[in-house]
Amino acid sequence: MPKYAHVISTGSYLPEKALTNKDLEKTVDTSDEWIFQRSGIRQRHIAAEGELTSDMAIKAAKSALDKAGLNPSDIDGIIVATTTPDLTFPSTAVIVQAGLKAPVGLAFDVQAVCAGFIYALSTANGLIRTGQAKRILVIGAEKLSSIINWEDRTTCVLFGDGAGAVILEARDMEGEKPSEGIISTHLYADGSFKNALYTNGGVGLNGLSGHIVMNGHEVFKQAVNLMSEAVNKALEYNNLKASDVDWLVPHQANIRIIESTAKKLKVPMERVVVTLQNHGNTSAASIPLALDVPMRSGMIKPGQLALLEALGGGLTWGSALIRL
Ligand code: ACO
Repeated sequence: MPKYAHVISTGSYLPEKALTNKDLEKTVDTSDEWIFQRSGIRQRHIAAEGELTSDMAIKAAKSALDKAGLNPSDIDGIIVATTTPDLTFPSTAVIVQAGLKAPVGLAFDVQAVCAGFIYALSTANGLIRTGQAKRILVIGAEKLSSIINWEDRTTCVLFGDGAGAVILEARDMEGEKPSEGIISTHLYADGSFKNALYTNGGVGLNGLSGHIVMNGHEVFKQAVNLMSEAVNKALEYNNLKASDVDWLVPHQANIRIIESTAKKLKVPMERVVVTLQNHGNTSAASIPLALDVPMRSGMIKPGQLALLEALGGGLTWGSALIRL
């Protein structure tokens, strides 16, 4: 029988240290008011000394496994979306696999910056639907604090560290298309925007990881247009209207991008998940964090329809329609 990928659990982790806007006032020329008005962010979490992306990924994975009542031995695939891997190689996913003591299975990283989790979810969906794995941990994890220029007030106020995870399970599919779990995904990239958001260093370029450089105005404009387009593609593809979707789960970059996109899509803010005030932009960890928080609080209920959307450096962007 054909399979579809059901979301059986979510998990997340934020490092203990919270760095508030007030804290940043002491190190760069900024203010809580400026940051909150322009971005909606109040604080971000920062990994402890020696705490790596894989450590955060493992904690998010364990929280998803606990919630599902599963053990690492029940997992046969691990995909980690990250821009800040522990090492150039091996992948963060195999470090997570070893840390969890998960059995032999597929494990690799996906790099699509802030859209990374949607790319990873789509990849995992394909692997499940083609029978290559039965239960995949899809993780978004980032230690962005290590690629932030802490003297650049235009970027350092926006980003934070953290991790989120979902577990996808192969289930029998009635009919020709899934009506539950991952219903559809739409992925896009346009490299002609590669200079809108990038790091000014890299393994090949200079052996360094570099720092985030961003054309904020350009990213803002493209984010609203391209994420709206990706959402509309998902709606059209599934013959749905925006009002049929219970929750819009946007990339948690900036409240003004989220509000402008929701307005363009005519989705009231009551049906939009917003968690960024607490953790800022955590890139690939953003979507699974934004999914886990409302699922744990009971705001998003099993059986509801959620439309995920993200955009990141590249530019890369996409959407995923999920019945939870
Ligand atoms: N504190 C105080 N003042 C600041 C700060 C700061 N942290 N940063 C910039 N300023 C100043 C600027 O220097 C400028 O001063 P000037 O007028 O004297 O030159 C003034 O504030 C206005 O700067 P703008 O860049 O015009 O501010 P804007 O209103 O556009 O907001 C922001 C900047 C928040 C970056 C906005 O462009 C934005 O939201 N862009 C989207 C970027 C984003 O979210 N990126 C995340 C990564 S991509 C993604 O995940 C989608």
